[in-house]
Amino acid sequence: MSKTIIVSNRLPIKILKENGKLSYMPSEGGLATGLGSVHEAGDNIWVGWPGLAVGNSDKKKEIKKSLKKQNMWSIFLSTSEIKGFHEGFSNQTLWPNFHYFNQYTVYDEELWKVYQKVNKKFARKLDKIIAPGDTLWIHDYQLLLLPQIIRQHNPKSKIGFFLHIPFPSFESFRLLPWRRELLNGMLGSDFLGFHTYDDMQHFLSSMSRLAGLENKNGKITVDSRLVMVDALPMGIDYDKYAQAAASPDTLAREVRYRTSIGDVKLILSIDRLDYSKGIPQRLRAFESFLDQHPEFVGKVSFFMVVVPSRDTAPKYRQLKQEIDLLVGQINGRFARLNWTPVHYFYRSFPLSALSAFYRMSDVALVTPMRDGMNLVCKEFIASKLDKKGVLILSEMAGASKELSDAILINPNDINQLIDAMHKALVMPENEQVKRMEIMQRLLRKYNIHHWAEIFMEKSRVCQKLSAGIDNKAVGRASNKTDNKSV
Ligand code: G6P
Repeated sequence: MSKTIIVSNRLPIKILKENGKLSYMPSEGGLATGLGSVHEAGDNIWVGWPGLAVGNSDKKKEIKKSLKKQNMWSIFLSTSEIKGFHEGFSNQTLWPNFHYFNQYTVYDEELWKVYQKVNKKFARKLDKIIAPGDTLWIHDYQLLLLPQIIRQHNPKSKIGFFLHIPFPSFESFRLLPWRRELLNGMLGSDFLGFHTYDDMQHFLSSMSRLAGLENKNGKITVDSRLVMVDALPMGIDYDKYAQAAASPDTLAREVRYRTSIGDVKLILSIDRLDYSKGIPQRLRAFESFLDQHPEFVGKVSFFMVVVPSRDTAPKYRQLKQEIDLLVGQINGRFARLNWTPVHYFYRSFPLSALSAFYRMSDVALVTPMRDGMNLVCKEFIASKLDKKGVLILSEMAGASKELSDAILINPNDINQLIDAMHKALVMPENEQVKRMEIMQRLLRKYNIHHWAEIFMEKSRVCQKLSAGIDNKAVGRASNKTDNKSV
């Protein structure tokens, strides 16, 4: 029977090694959290890296065996591959470029070579796993070359690709010396999905200007194949979050946490440590809010969870130091014996704790400078069983295109952020409920399972259309020049 093979750099589980012993933890980030539910619900396997370098072959066997029981196949990366591919080209070249942080982008031919090498390594592993009729579902910026490599090995492959981060405008993307190779890599797919219409348009614009390939209603002809492109905003496992918010464990935690914190209003933020998330900007806005609204001093606390991530990279270490300093500065200035302005946690939490945080918060402050989608804001909404609570959401998050009943802000506009906090804290309950109901209805319907179904359906349609296409049809991306751009 044919199967679906999910492929991403990281598996949804990461393995840690402490004192020679292995422990298994959930991976961070929207891709792992969101797709985890699709993996659990369906008949599929997931291929990816378990998150550590393993030299010892007995350990490799042990990991392979335990992951296979959960339908996961591991690809092991060496220390130099982790440095060059994961920490290097993926997170120091593509990540900043795609999030418009080009002052952070590293241009290094050596990193590019390792990126190519590891994409080929994934392809070799997949060659051993794919059977005729299988569908590949490849995810995210770490594997942009993989669709084309697989297609070269097996022209009839069924390949869908989804990008979980923004696709940048042509002006950012063109800065990459390897831009055409990256586009050609993606074009090996049958169907390419993006979170938003803007991401899709940016991709199509780069396609036209760098590869000379035009689209007709999101369809591009490449050799004798059809490639379809569409915007497909990712949802969450709505029921999982709604059920967690009603679970006895969550309720017990909420009582405990509330007793410790006391009777104050709470503004919540939860992010991976990342410069794209706008964490220092948010802290500065909260400090100014307390300055401008002294009536809230002692009455509202900022509850901030930062999940450790990529902390071996200098930019991330600097960011961590900046956050630590800002939190210290705000608490040093405003704290009282019976009130802490910023409750700051630099660690990850289990679902029942996160669920309690969502339940007890009056406001969620989700203000990234740039974000492909952002699932935290959706989880907050699904957890609000009493429908009370306000979401402040950055216009730069993909989710803002769907959640227009949030208070939308530009994260660079500190005054707008301060006004939004005030508006959220004094918003009448009936307005909170009205806004929350609309957003809940939308997220309940367009949940993660709906997203996965539509993705697969679109991939199938594309393969069918492709099968009927005239073989003499138009040109090949790799033969085109950069004619319109340079
Ligand atoms: C984002 C990306 C994921 C990535 C995650 C964690 O959510 O879209 O692909 O896995 O961040 O980052 P890391 O570099 O630790 O895998």
